[in-house]
Order: sequence, then structure tokens, then C-alpha cells
Amino acid sequence: MRATARSFFLSLLAITALVVAGPAVADASALQQPQDTRLAVANQPAAAADAAPTFYADVLPILQQNCQTCHREAGTNMGGMIAPWPLVTYEDAAPRARRMASAVQVGRMPPWSAAAWHKGTFENERVLEEEEKATLLAWAEEGAPAGNPADAPPTPAFLMAEMNSDLEWTLGEPDLILSFDQEYCLDDDLRDIYVDIPLHLSAEQLPQDRWIKSVEYRNGPAVHHIVGGVGGLVPGAAPRVYEDGYGRLLRAGPRDINFNMHYNKTPGPGTAVCSNVKVGITFKEPGDVIRHVTGGNGLFIRPIAIPAGASSYSASREYVFEEDVEILSFMPHMHLRGKAAQYEITYPDGRHETLLHVPNYAFNWQHTYRFAEPPFVPEGSTLRFTLWWDNSENNPNNPDPTADVRWGRPTHAEMSQGYMNFRTMNERHIVVGENPPIADAGDGDGLDR
Ligand code: HEC
Repeated sequence: MRATARSFFLSLLAITALVVAGPAVADASALQQPQDTRLAVANQPAAAADAAPTFYADVLPILQQNCQTCHREAGTNMGGMIAPWPLVTYEDAAPRARRMASAVQVGRMPPWSAAAWHKGTFENERVLEEEEKATLLAWAEEGAPAGNPADAPPTPAFLMAEMNSDLEWTLGEPDLILSFDQEYCLDDDLRDIYVDIPLHLSAEQLPQDRWIKSVEYRNGPAVHHIVGGVGGLVPGAAPRVYEDGYGRLLRAGPRDINFNMHYNKTPGPGTAVCSNVKVGITFKEPGDVIRHVTGGNGLFIRPIAIPAGASSYSASREYVFEEDVEILSFMPHMHLRGKAAQYEITYPDGRHETLLHVPNYAFNWQHTYRFAEPPFVPEGSTLRFTLWWDNSENNPNNPDPTADVRWGRPTHAEMSQGYMNFRTMNERHIVVGENPPIADAGDGDGLDR
């Protein structure tokens, strides 16, 4: 990873953003002062000097590519986080021009927490170019002009598909839909709660192990995010599809799959709500061949004991790869005191590399970091996974800096895992429908045992 001038500039920006905004969950309203925007525009004369950017010609393309997957009616459900309003039409965007400008300037939007030098590494990264930020800033500064509708780029396919269909499942009707046996109900005065809910998979639902082709989630109201989700049912914003030749085994019922649910709502009279999830699964067809098995590990670090007031407590663990793999994704998970996360690898020849650095972990966003080009990791490599927590009073999210903190499910306790997905490189030849050679199917994802 070269330390280019650009990445240096980006990290400076990130540091500035931190000083100005505090952690990513800081109250947005604190950043609405117009001076913020004016100052930044003054630093970007190139964009402002030309004719003022207009909505249709300059701003809309940026929104389409970087914002509208979430900011639209029924936008992408970020594991429960739903964007507050659409940014699709001029009428949607114009009144919010300043908020948008300040949100992108400090890096609060689009939400993403990987270190700036990872730019280009993750296929699902959400990163704006400096020019794009400058355009949004200049547009806000100029009073959000509409421009000529004829300049508008075509409506993106995902919006068209949505407008032309009311299909519940984007990947078609699932073979199996799983839900909790009972809805989970939240009282009027409840704001925020974590609960473990077992999702019961019966023998009737899944009499034998089957190979997963795709997994898609539908969350009920007030679901903030799902963290557990196991046996290949890893939650995430986008539906997960296992391409031809790749597969993941879902073990037969009866068994309980543990889901760690985080519910969140605004308390008040009449806000009580009951909620469930739906997990829609399609399976590989008989005769399909699995050559590469997808598996993983939760990378739990336990026990942990974070002393009261510690501003940078860290804990780590190692994982040794027993066969050649390609790493597909990482997803670090902590609670309110979470500060930073890092995945480093030491190859058998002694080479050392950082695969993911999250310098400012944001509890509100449960990002999965999916590699655009999955790194090859030979047998015998050692992964070192490290987490940091800030249990001091300087962490504005800290519910109690005077408490010693241990591992636990409730928000006031901490979690310490680093869900990892990989696919094995040693080619298998598993024919779906013939007796699945379980012993040869990898060790599942290691999450539910
Ligand atoms: C992955 C989904 C996602 C993407 C992509 C996204 N947003 Fe958001 N946005 C959200 C959610 C969810 C919220 C509500 C945040 C909260 O409650 O903390 C939000 C809130 C906001 C807010 C109000 C809060 C604030 O921080 O000021 C603004 C402004 C905003 N988004 C602008 C944008 C812009 C501009 C883009 C594109 C450059 C964008 N967003 C991309 C999901 C997204």
C-alpha cells in the first residue's frame, strides 16, 4: 500500500473530520452552521470557479451512484438502518443541500469506516472522490440551483426495477423462509435493546443438509441490526448469492440458530411495536457442482476485561489457516465502547500485511468489508485480529466510564468478534443431490457452535 499524497490528504481530512464532528454517531444538527460549508468551498476554488454546479447535470449523478441505494423509498435496509428520506428528485434534495454538504465533508455520509488507504480494495466500499464532495459543497453554497432537467442522467436500473415491481424478494421466491417462532414486542417507553433470539430450524423445514445458493433478509419494524445470524445466514445489506461452483452448507434441523438482535426506536406513547425477521433462502439445484466451499470463523476474542476509564484497551487473537483459502469478507463487531479494529496476516514465508484497518469503528454501522479481489492466503498463514475499546469519559457513547466491562450481549457489556468468510481453494467435486460428503464440506462457518 503506497502512501501517496492523496491518501495522506485523505487521512488528514479524516482527522479533521474527527476533530470537528467527534465520532460518527454525533448529533447531525451540531454541524449545520453555514460557516462550515463556506470555509470548505473557499478551499476548493477549482470546483466553484467554473459555472455553478446544477442538480440535474452535476449533483444527481453523484446521488445516484453513492446515495440512492439507501436514500429512496424503501431504500436498502442497512441491517435495519433506514435512511430518513429519499434523495431522488430535485424537491427531495434541494432543501437538504447544506446537510448533505456537511455530512459528506466530515465523512459521515456515505457511511463507511475502513481506513482511507483501502480505497479500491472493497467491492462494497462507499467513498466519495474529493471532486464529488467539492461539487456538493459548491452546489449548496450557490443556493442549490436546479439547472436543466434535460441534463439528468438516466434513472439507475435499481430504481427502475423497484418502480416496476412490487416483488418482495429481489432474488425470486425462496425455497425456505425462516422467522422467529414469535414476534418480539417493544413497549412504548423502550428505546434500545439487544436480545438473543433463537431461530428454530425444524427437521421438517430442513430434513437434510443443503447447499445455499442465496440468502436475503427482510426486517420488521424497529430492527436496528442483526449481528448473529449463523450457519451461512450472515446478515448484510445486500442479498448474498453463491455463484456457480461455490456453495455453503446449511446444516439440517432440528436445531436453533442464534440471532443477536438489536432493536431501536424512538420511545413515546403509541410507539409500541412487534417485529420479526424473514430469512429467505434458495438452494442449489440437484446436479449443481460445488468446487469451492465457503466457510468462515467468528474470530471471537474471549474473555475480555476492559478496565474502567481505559482509553485504548486492546485484545487480540490468532487464527491459523489449515488449507489454502481466499478471504471474501470481514465484519468486526463491538458495542458502544468499540474504537478500532485490525486484521493482519503473516504468510508462511514471513511476509506481513494488514488486510483491514478500521481506525474509527462506528457502532451504528455494521459494515461487512467485502474484498473486490479476495486475497489468497496459503495454508499455514496466521491471521492476527485485534480490537480496541475506549472505556474513558472521552468516548461520548460510553454509557458508564466507571464500570469494568466484560463480554456480554447487553449494550452495556462489550462484544469482541470479527466474522470472517473465506472460500477454500483445494478443488472439490461435490454434486448437489448426491450424498453430500460432509467431512469434506469445510467446518461450516464456525459461528454457531
Ligand atoms: C448505506 C446507506 C446509506 C448511504 C449509501 C447514504 N446514506 Fe445518508 N443516511 C443513511 C441513514 C441510515 C441515515 C440515518 C442516520 C442516522 O440515523 O444516524 C442517513 C442520514 C443522512 C443525513 C442526515 C444525517 C446527517 O448526517 O446529516 C444526510 C444529510 C445524508 N444521510 C446524506 C447522504 C448523502 C449525501 C449520501 C451520498 C453521498 C448518503 N447519505 C449515502 C444511509 C445512507
